[in-house]
Amino acid sequence: MPIKKSSDLRYSEVTPQSTYLNRRTFLSAVPLAGAALLATRAKAAAKLSAIKGPFSTDEKPTPYQDVASYNNFYEFGTGKDQPSKNANRLKTSPWTIAVEGAVSKPKVFDLADVMKMAPLEERIYRHRCVEAWSIVVPWIGFPLNVLIKAVEPTTKAKFVAFQSLYDSKYMLSERSAGIAFPYVEGLRMDEAMHPLALLCFGMYGQELPNQDGAPVRLVVPWKYGFKSIKSIVKIKFVEKEPPTTWNLSNSREYGFYSNVNPTVDHPRWSQASERRLGEFLKRKTLMFNGYADQVASLYTGMDLRKYY
Ligand code: MTE
Repeated sequence: MPIKKSSDLRYSEVTPQSTYLNRRTFLSAVPLAGAALLATRAKAAAKLSAIKGPFSTDEKPTPYQDVASYNNFYEFGTGKDQPSKNANRLKTSPWTIAVEGAVSKPKVFDLADVMKMAPLEERIYRHRCVEAWSIVVPWIGFPLNVLIKAVEPTTKAKFVAFQSLYDSKYMLSERSAGIAFPYVEGLRMDEAMHPLALLCFGMYGQELPNQDGAPVRLVVPWKYGFKSIKSIVKIKFVEKEPPTTWNLSNSREYGFYSNVNPTVDHPRWSQASERRLGEFLKRKTLMFNGYADQVASLYTGMDLRKYY
């Protein structure tokens, strides 16, 4: 009998999350299951209702399990399977985001207040990792520019710097992870204001699972995945281009802009094609990850080989 690959399954055929969460809760009660299973037990994610947002691709979403079990989140391990096992240590409530720097109205926001700033939208975006794999995810959030407008940036705000939570008590040390913490990222102001840039709280109709960046992350779909910083605690408006984690770690391989670009190879591998998680054959990578119509004008006149 042919075995169904996860890629053959339709979104609706995937085990509902509540079912497998219950299964895990049951399993973790079995003494033999021990610490390993306890570690993988996910919190029961709350549902998030959202209206359909613009810019959604009509491509088939990647199965939830793939998106929630193959992750990069170095604070919880450098292997793709480790964040889903370890990120349950992250305490996502209470959660605040400090918004500061060159703004008229700096404020430390409670996450709940941020989430009320605009209607939540579901947007199905392509997401392309610099390591040449990709996923299609129904994210839930609203444009980052909603939060930016609320704090009224001054004319000195030319870039936006983002910072993730870091707590050495339950996250990897810099030495074990091989990168500096806290994880930091940045966008030019016009990129951050672009309606595609999403402040994201959920996926697949639910709150984000911890390993995908709970309780709040960025999704910048025309850039390589590492620009989409997870578990954000600080947003600062600045005059100069801010440091970014992967550029600090290896500036030859990772630039500030990091727009998806099939014509500029990574020094160690090609960026011309990608493997969609759950699929066998590779597909061609598209300029700006397929969002060129929306964002190419942001980079008119820039040499994208120099500003990679
Ligand atoms: N954010 C933090 N705080 N720490 C990380 O290690 N990894 C980045 C990005 N955001 C990372 C992060 C990288 S390399 C990628 S490819 C994406 O998260 C992966 O997002 P995903 O696991 O939801 O697919």
